[in-house]
Amino acid sequence: MRRIEAADAERLREIRLAALADAPGSFWQTLAGEGARPFADWQARAARNATGDAHATFLLERAPGLPERAPGLAGPAPGQLVGMVDVHRPSHAPEFRELAAMWVAPAVRGTGAADLLLGAALGWAREVGAVGVRLWVVPTNPAAVGVYLRHGFRPVGTVEEAVPDEAGKVYLPMLLALDDDAAAEPTFLERAQAPWTDESG
Ligand SMILES: CC(C)(COP(=O)(O)OP(=O)(O)OC[C@H]1O[C@@H](n2cnc3c(N)ncnc32)[C@H](O)[C@@H]1OP(=O)(O)O)[C@@H](O)C(=O)NCCC(=O)NCCS
Repeated sequence: MRRIEAADAERLREIRLAALADAPGSFWQTLAGEGARPFADWQARAARNATGDAHATFLLERAPGLPERAPGLAGPAPGQLVGMVDVHRPSHAPEFRELAAMWVAPAVRGTGAADLLLGAALGWAREVGAVGVRLWVVPTNPAAVGVYLRHGFRPVGTVEEAVPDEAGKVYLPMLLALDDDAAAEPTFLERAQAPWTDESG
């Protein structure tokens, strides 16, 4: 598990497109849209998310020397990326961080990869002083909802068309409070539910 580096632009593009091809029903962005982005966008995104307290991407790489998951089945090669997650500072709720683009390669699902990704993302959010982390999940995605519940996220508000989505998907907003004092403030929930904007870069 590691934070992205500026030099990871091509690998970021590959894993993000793999995620969108694998699970188009899970994400607001589309394979066509992301696939059409110029390489300079991926370079800018990798560089931006490599440092600082506003944006971060965490990448999960298969370690060398691990056994194959199932005998006889080809698994990901050593060094291959098998998971990613983005976290960013939403401009309408800058004291929070927002989790997005979470994906685990099918070959390593059910092995704790999501826990590693969330651990890195939430650890970073704590380090940078976020009062909470929010996300939007398609409610008919039990694997994802289950992972988020296990890490303490709770639904806030109602299932809604939180964003314009050409495929007509609806999203469930979920929130994890990181700061008890901030969470006790009467405006906390309202601030956490400030409107979604596409800030993936
Ligand atoms: C959601 C996701 C990140 C979970 O990753 P993961 O590392 O498999 O997470 P977990 O190991 O905690 O498994 C979560 C659930 O997936 C299911 N699961 C387990 N092994 C699985 C496998 N080999 N294949 C498919 N699903 C599996 C189980 O229902 C599990 O729930 P359980 O803990 O009650 O058994 C992953 O399934 C994924 O990338 N899905 C597609 C993209 C997506 O939906 N992203 C979330 C956007 S909000």
